[in-house]
Amino acid sequence: GTTLGASAAEKGRYFGAAVAANKLSDATYVGILNREFNMVTPENEMKWDATEPSQGQFNYTNADRIVSHAQANGMRVRGHALAWHSQQPGWAQNLSGTALRQAMVNHITQVATHYRGKIYAWDVVNEAFADSGGGRRDSNLQRTGNDWIEVAFRTARAADPAAKLCYNDYNTDNWTWEKTQAVYNMVKDFKARGVPIDCVGLQSHFNSGSPYPGNYRTTLQNFAALGVDVQITELDIEGSGTTQATTYGNVVKDCLAVSRCTGITVWGIRDSDSWRASGTPLLFDGNGNKKPAYTAVLDAL
Ligand code: XIL
Repeated sequence: GTTLGASAAEKGRYFGAAVAANKLSDATYVGILNREFNMVTPENEMKWDATEPSQGQFNYTNADRIVSHAQANGMRVRGHALAWHSQQPGWAQNLSGTALRQAMVNHITQVATHYRGKIYAWDVVNEAFADSGGGRRDSNLQRTGNDWIEVAFRTARAADPAAKLCYNDYNTDNWTWEKTQAVYNMVKDFKARGVPIDCVGLQSHFNSGSPYPGNYRTTLQNFAALGVDVQITELDIEGSGTTQATTYGNVVKDCLAVSRCTGITVWGIRDSDSWRASGTPLLFDGNGNKKPAYTAVLDAL
């Protein structure tokens, strides 16, 4: 193929990008999006603070703009994210206990029902594990009880039975890291007990503190062996030039080597669209030109 999306599709995979609704009026941005990608993730527009700014008052305006754009251009959508400690509305941050648990369940039910049938995969729970120590991250959701994650998955399954339901996290790329092991053990337990989980998302924000690991393919394979799909959900790689390009190519080769690695999403289109305040972690430069990293990805696909 001559584009990322078409080449990935030839291998039975997708190639996606995080999209911001306020950039859908940028012709350069939309031109690249429509040409290269066949999956989109709303970068912020489906998060709790965006979709339920006041309790029980739902606002889907910006998320709907992205979903409509995707549908009109033959792209699928990854929903992101139903339950997360971050980017909660103020009212939820101030809740605890049963009230917060009920608010979470209602939020998941409402949002997943609104988008029922339109979402390829939902990040049902995002970033629930601690960076070290092998345990859960302390958060208001965690303090409602250790079962909050499985309750979130069961609630999402009831609301949209056709969507794949994913657990998504960062620093879960290196097989030897205890955070990776902790997530692996949760997924194994969920599969053993029949908690509905279909996929694991590896964010894969690679930088000097959490570099692309040589055992990345092993991690993908081991998660897939539990009977779930794996997806690379928020890829960006610090650096530039040939070094960055080589790493991007290796990530793609690792995914293609694992039959249940179903697709790759980069967390933005141009370097200037990145959430990283500085650096050049994406596939297109600020002018929308293809970088060496783009060519390495296309060649690997
Ligand atoms: C980031 C967005 O890119 C930023 O625009 C926003 O200010 C903060 O969130 N992990 C995730 C994503 O799961 O939702 C985050 O997105 C990046 C880290």
